[in-house]
Amino acid sequence: MLRDPQRPCPKFETVPNHISIVMDGNGRWANSRGLTRTEGHRAGEAALLDVVAGAIEAGVKYLTVYAFSTENWKRSPEEVKFLMGFNKEVLRRRRDQLNEWGVKIRWAGRRPKLWASVIADLEAAEKLTKNNHGLVLTMAVNYGGRQELLDAINSLTQKVASGKIKPGRISAKSLEAELYVPEAPDVDLFLRSSGEQRTSNFLLWQSSYAELVFLETLWPDFTRETLWLAIEEFGRRSRRFGGAKDTPLN
Ligand code: IPE
Ligand code: IPE
Ligand code: MG
Repeated sequence: MLRDPQRPCPKFETVPNHISIVMDGNGRWANSRGLTRTEGHRAGEAALLDVVAGAIEAGVKYLTVYAFSTENWKRSPEEVKFLMGFNKEVLRRRRDQLNEWGVKIRWAGRRPKLWASVIADLEAAEKLTKNNHGLVLTMAVNYGGRQELLDAINSLTQKVASGKIKPGRISAKSLEAELYVPEAPDVDLFLRSSGEQRTSNFLLWQSSYAELVFLETLWPDFTRETLWLAIEEFGRRSRRFGGAKDTPLN
């Protein structure tokens, strides 16, 4: 069920600590083959597993993947129903393999609207893998960056009302403690497949200084080697975080 790698993992000069991926292009991949959109989602499962394996090989610590956005409820009832069931199936089919790899599974997303059975499987996977110390794989399901910030703000205002935080004293640190996966650091490499060049509400706070890499590859065609190409591109970027560096003429 797992793909054989096509080349050994390169020795990277810099490995991003946290990679986020908008796994996009399943529908186009399927339609271009005369298949239904759901077949594209099915084909994306193997891509995800291969990319997780490639991230582990590369030494990435955090990988956050966008599986279902708070805007994806706009899709047809059939596609939404398929995606809900499919998320459960993938978790059930793959959690033991991921656990063997030492992966710690986390869920980022909102409870309201999300199927209770999907939440149950996400939480079961979190529980199964909670003592692992390998890659932290966060599944963003019913996730929206704006919604995450609103949820954090609402919880902070409650803390202000109850006197736990002084009015006017909300800090970046106190807000970060309210995010869905508070232990995850800022995103270093923000990757999107399928040629679309937008964030679509993914990890807004966490990505403010991420390097953005947009690849034409459609998600079902994505492999660990594609991930490694993106890591190589990341290594060629000059990150300044608002600081300045001279580039002397020589
Ligand atoms: C990404 O692929 C998967 C989800 C959003 C769940 P799409 O379904 O968005 O595929 P395209 O963008 O229509 O090709
Ligand atoms: C973003 O992709 C969400 C996921 C990959 C889960 P979309 O396909 O939903 O985003 P838009 O609509 O093209 O911005
Ligand atoms: Mg899409």
